[in-house]
Amino acid sequence: MHSPLVVALTILLICRFGDVKATIWLDPDTGLNLYQFIAKYGYYYENYTVVTNDNYILNTVRIPRGRNESSTSNSTKPAVLLLHGIWSHPADFIIMGDRSIGFLLAEQGFDVFLMACRGNTYSPGHLNFSTDSVEYWNFSWHEIGYYDIPANMDLITNVTGNVNMSFIGHSQGGTAFVVLAVTRPNYRARISVSHLFAPVVYMDYCRLPFFSYFKIVKENLEDLLTDMHLNKGILTYNPLVLPLAILFCNINAPTKYLCIELHGITGPDPNQLNATKLTVIATNTPAGGSFKEVFHYLQVAKSSTFSLYDYRSHNFLRYNHSEPPFYNLSSIDDIPIYIWYGANDYFSGTLDFIRLGNEIPSAKLKPVASILWNHMDFVFAIQGKEYVYDEVISNLRNVVGI
Ligand SMILES: *[C@@H]1O[C@H](CO)[C@@H](O)[C@H](O)[C@H]1NC(C)=O
Ligand SMILES: *[C@@H]1O[C@H](CO)[C@@H](O)[C@H](O)[C@H]1NC(C)=O
Ligand SMILES: *[C@@H]1O[C@H](CO)[C@@H](O)[C@H](O)[C@H]1NC(C)=O
Ligand SMILES: *[C@@H]1O[C@H](CO)[C@@H](O)[C@H](O)[C@H]1NC(C)=O
Ligand SMILES: *[C@@H]1O[C@H](CO)[C@@H](O)[C@H](O)[C@H]1NC(C)=O
Ligand SMILES: *[C@@H]1O[C@H](CO)[C@@H](O)[C@H](O)[C@H]1NC(C)=O
Ligand SMILES: *[C@@H]1O[C@H](CO)[C@@H](O)[C@H](O)[C@H]1NC(C)=O
Ligand SMILES: *[C@@H]1O[C@H](CO)[C@@H](O)[C@H](O)[C@H]1NC(C)=O
Ligand SMILES: *[C@@H]1O[C@H](CO)[C@@H](O)[C@H](O)[C@H]1NC(C)=O
Ligand SMILES: *[C@@H]1O[C@H](CO)[C@@H](O)[C@H](O)[C@H]1NC(C)=O
Repeated sequence: MHSPLVVALTILLICRFGDVKATIWLDPDTGLNLYQFIAKYGYYYENYTVVTNDNYILNTVRIPRGRNESSTSNSTKPAVLLLHGIWSHPADFIIMGDRSIGFLLAEQGFDVFLMACRGNTYSPGHLNFSTDSVEYWNFSWHEIGYYDIPANMDLITNVTGNVNMSFIGHSQGGTAFVVLAVTRPNYRARISVSHLFAPVVYMDYCRLPFFSYFKIVKENLEDLLTDMHLNKGILTYNPLVLPLAILFCNINAPTKYLCIELHGITGPDPNQLNATKLTVIATNTPAGGSFKEVFHYLQVAKSSTFSLYDYRSHNFLRYNHSEPPFYNLSSIDDIPIYIWYGANDYFSGTLDFIRLGNEIPSAKLKPVASILWNHMDFVFAIQGKEYVYDEVISNLRNVVGI
């Protein structure tokens, strides 16, 4: 993943633009992968491989204790499972270092599990399909909720002895959790409490660029890609992203404002963006997703309903109905689900989150008290701790009684 090629290209680019060299200052976390990141911050971790019921091979990293905690402490700690968003990766939850929710949870008594879903750089593949095949990429967030989260919950139970656990999901991680909660009630019952950061469920008020255009061409685009055997991964990891980011997004580059603009594509919030982190973010991002995940979101947006994947002429075979069935949100009435959202989120609008909160009987809405709070602020904001994490962790501690 972080091949010598990256380093070579970086050096090449920097030499080519020699005058830039003197003024480049890089955030010291630039270039670290998930494992190097955890180790650099002084945490002990364990690396797990888990195979889902549909044979996807996933990767999960466990941070079982705080930095200074002794390894002999043997109390069974409450476990918390964290799931990143589309095109993102598990390092999202530690990227802000000592102020990130992953490390804060480890410091405050939790056994932390960072999972990587299917299609992600950090998940190795499939028992039967190559990661370059259309078969491998034939999944949406439905399968992430239906297979990947349960597989990780079983892993946690095996490793820690905890039957129950808490869950935190960002963006698509929240979408997948809602799918799990509806379709796997036995797993839902094992979640003590769930905090969803900007879960993308309804998208009536989506403000992403070109989104309304893609809504219109969705079916044609899907057919075209399928015919061309290109209905596979989109925004998968590319080793060129980091050297380009180092060159153009470093804190002294005149072009860094373009990078800040690009980052703001999901809703600009310049006050919460530490621009030195752009190269840290670019180290592992984008980390992969499927076209099918995007098509499923477009379907949700187009129909204004949260329903299973629309297989169109094959719906009858699959669902015994010409339309895909709704996910029955009103069946989620037992476990507490906190829906955190910002007013400046371009994926879903405030009214989308309010609708979601109204349709899930046991949901509680948590608008973030910062007017420009956006989609990515939940993982990258300078003040994530103050605005979100402290309250989330204190709630988790209350629920599990530590
Ligand atoms: C963790 O496991 C994955 C396979 O699931 C492997 O690709 C990766 O190299 C491992 N990382 C470390 C640091 O052991
Ligand atoms: C851990 O120990 C180091 C060195 O003693 C100290 O500086 C630090 O504040 C301690 N706590 C955490 C959370 O790192
Ligand atoms: C391990 O747990 C047992 C029972 O809870 C306790 O008696 C023992 O002191 C603990 N050992 C350590 C090293 O914490
Ligand atoms: C997938 O791979 C596993 C392990 O190699 C094998 O046991 C299984 O039969 C394969 N399934 C299919 C459908 O090929
Ligand atoms: C994708 O999955 C669907 C549903 O599981 C199946 O009907 C379809 O044949 C699959 N397509 C490919 C190319 O594997
Ligand atoms: C959990 O343990 C059981 C029994 O050892 C095993 O069959 C199962 O595959 C394990 N599941 C995971 C996800 O590790
Ligand atoms: C897990 O949580 C359920 C409630 O959702 C509770 O009934 C059950 O006793 C818990 N199991 C354990 C082992 O704590
Ligand atoms: C931004 O990140 C750098 C490097 O980690 C750090 O030194 C600086 O204090 C951060 N700025 C803010 C406002 O948090
Ligand atoms: C399919 O739908 C028809 C009509 O709604 C119903 O009579 C039948 O029982 C359904 N079959 C299955 C397998 O659900
Ligand atoms: C949805 O779930 C609720 C609560 O469990 C139930 O009363 C209702 O019948 C379900 N609706 C459908 C369409 O299955």
